[in-house]
Amino acid sequence: MNIFTFKDEEQFVQTGANLISALLHTNPRAKLGLATGSTPIGLYNKLIEMNRQGLVSFAQTTTYNLDEYVGLPENHPESYRAFMNEKLFNHVDINIENTHVPNGNAADPEEECRNYDNMLEQFGPVDLQLLGLGHNGHIGFNEPGESLNGGTHVVELQEKTRNANARFFPSLDDVPTHAITMGVATILKARQILLLVRGEDKAEAVKRALKGPITTDCPASLLQCHPNVVVLLDQGAGSLLV
Ligand code: F6R
Repeated sequence: MNIFTFKDEEQFVQTGANLISALLHTNPRAKLGLATGSTPIGLYNKLIEMNRQGLVSFAQTTTYNLDEYVGLPENHPESYRAFMNEKLFNHVDINIENTHVPNGNAADPEEECRNYDNMLEQFGPVDLQLLGLGHNGHIGFNEPGESLNGGTHVVELQEKTRNANARFFPSLDDVPTHAITMGVATILKARQILLLVRGEDKAEAVKRALKGPITTDCPASLLQCHPNVVVLLDQGAGSLLV
């Protein structure tokens, strides 16, 4: 694992954007695995800026998002499809038909999971998977537990995760109870993983993920099994690493 800690937010964001743009310069058809949440927003803003300046192009890129809530209309502002359109896709030269987010409104969510995995199997693996980290060590919506699911699957969200995401909804009751998420095995198939973490409130999770035992109690600890992980931390997030 290559772990970098940044004092400066601009450097943190620029380093992530440079990694993605370098990949797209080498391989304009690269497949990107993308994440939502608050952490990658600065990175997406930077990529939009670089795209406007002609420094990076997404014209031939295909993207696969990690996850989506079950049961939120696609145009609901908090659906991950709406998030991605608003935070990135609508502002860069990507072909929207080449962007994929699991369909949280599929009539048969289990079938949607199988279809998503089949698509990744057929067209993947992704070249670079962007990840954020949950306070409980989750990646995607792979929550801690006695076991983990390898492939894309429907998951019941833990209270801690629903509480953390309640800030985006009028009330906790409005936060969906289920989501579709790529599984840990799907995530680990990516050629490279780029994990971004910000904030002192995530320092404990960072320590468990990067330095703790590999355990299903901390799904992100499985990243230690991957041969090509780059971790970008701000000072708060890295504060418990020695
Ligand atoms: C988002 C996702 C989640 C988030 C994580 C951190 O697609 O899969 O695992 O990356 O919950 O969220 P933020 O960045 O909001 O702290």
